Amino acid sequence: MRMEKITICGGGNGAQTLACIAGQNLACDVDMYAPFRGEAERLREGIEAHGGIEARGAVRGRGCPHRVSGEAAHVIPGSQAVVFVVPAFAHESTLHKIIPYLDDGAWVGAMPARGGLDYCMARVLEDAGRSDVSAFGLQTLPWACRVAEYGRTVQVLGVKETVDAASRPAARLGRIVPVLEQMVGVPIGDAGSMLALTLANTGQIIHPGIMYDFFADWDGETFDDGQVPLFYQGLSEEGAERLGEMSREIQRICACLADSSLDLSSVYDLKTWLVRSYGDAILDASSLHSAFVTNQAYAGLRAPVKEVAPGQFAPAFGARYLAEDVPYGLAVSQAIARLAGVETPVMDLVVSWARQRVGGEAGGDETNDRTPQAHDLNDLEALIRFTMEE
Ligand code: NAI
Repeated sequence: MRMEKITICGGGNGAQTLACIAGQNLACDVDMYAPFRGEAERLREGIEAHGGIEARGAVRGRGCPHRVSGEAAHVIPGSQAVVFVVPAFAHESTLHKIIPYLDDGAWVGAMPARGGLDYCMARVLEDAGRSDVSAFGLQTLPWACRVAEYGRTVQVLGVKETVDAASRPAARLGRIVPVLEQMVGVPIGDAGSMLALTLANTGQIIHPGIMYDFFADWDGETFDDGQVPLFYQGLSEEGAERLGEMSREIQRICACLADSSLDLSSVYDLKTWLVRSYGDAILDASSLHSAFVTNQAYAGLRAPVKEVAPGQFAPAFGARYLAEDVPYGLAVSQAIARLAGVETPVMDLVVSWARQRVGGEAGGDETNDRTPQAHDLNDLEALIRFTMEE
């Protein structure tokens, strides 16, 4: 399907990376909707000064968004696809803002989807009477990327070899995938369903699990710069075992759904996902631990910390690795496990620790409950029926 125009929602690392390549890849206009904290103005300034946004590193390209605005009314009309590249806590509020301006039959989706995107989107779209709109999500962001100079250059550190996607209704995915694939320049697989996407979200295991490994016993003592752990390379054997156990808990949920007609084969165990996503960047895939610590795409990335006194650091418990990946990830899978009657002792441990730690640190970000129970899906049959709705 030929795209005339798409709109990217967001103004951060991922949104700017997508803005560098989407227009060229799809040969269409790209607009940006960036209502957050004056980003639209800063993006316009940067783009004008630099002649577009430029991607460097593992992806190269330069994109010049047609319009950049903080007003949905200026950019959303005429968009065949609207792509959220914002943290999951901003999905629902962004959807509310754009819905009045969506064209008939538009596609709206998020990269990455995180957990429970389908429950949230279905409710908001239904309340607005927009059954014509298709929802989609990607299992992860295709790139590891950072803004180098705002509105001017982004550094792409790594590219996934393949990323899975799902849509609601599921039958519409066949039309969406070729466009997504062309847009991001990475092969897109079929996750099977949005439920599979929720369970296949590996960030929910990796990020809170590694934070727990480093900081569960943190006693409040600050540390200096040289003691900040490398996030992936610093993972302990015991920590890797804990990640493996959470992955097995997810697999047990899938086993409980094996008799339904849902295809959950895209919910890979963690090590398989790592190898599938990073391929040759992993130097030693003989164990889950070695696959993490020898993954060159992860090399050098540090644990999230905050400077609390000059040269003194403490864990940043308000960082997305807990504040996004627990309420919009692990807690959603934990809630699905409850519906399936699956015990999840390791997930329970990590979720309750993270909740205590995030406490007041998550800043002013809104929290929407994305568990199925919060959307009146209170047993496994209801969840399966909802997931399969056409
Ligand atoms: P970012 O922090 O660079 O940008 C997020 C953007 O979201 C902001 O620039 C803003 O436009 C918007 N936003 C943030 N808070 C908001 C709020 N409260 N209300 C409305 N809009 C808000 O984030 P980044 O790196 O682009 O990440 C986007 C998503 O991709 C996140 O879910 C992140 O976890 C995920 N991700 C990012 C990776 C990366 O390498 N950057 C890798 C894998 C996943």
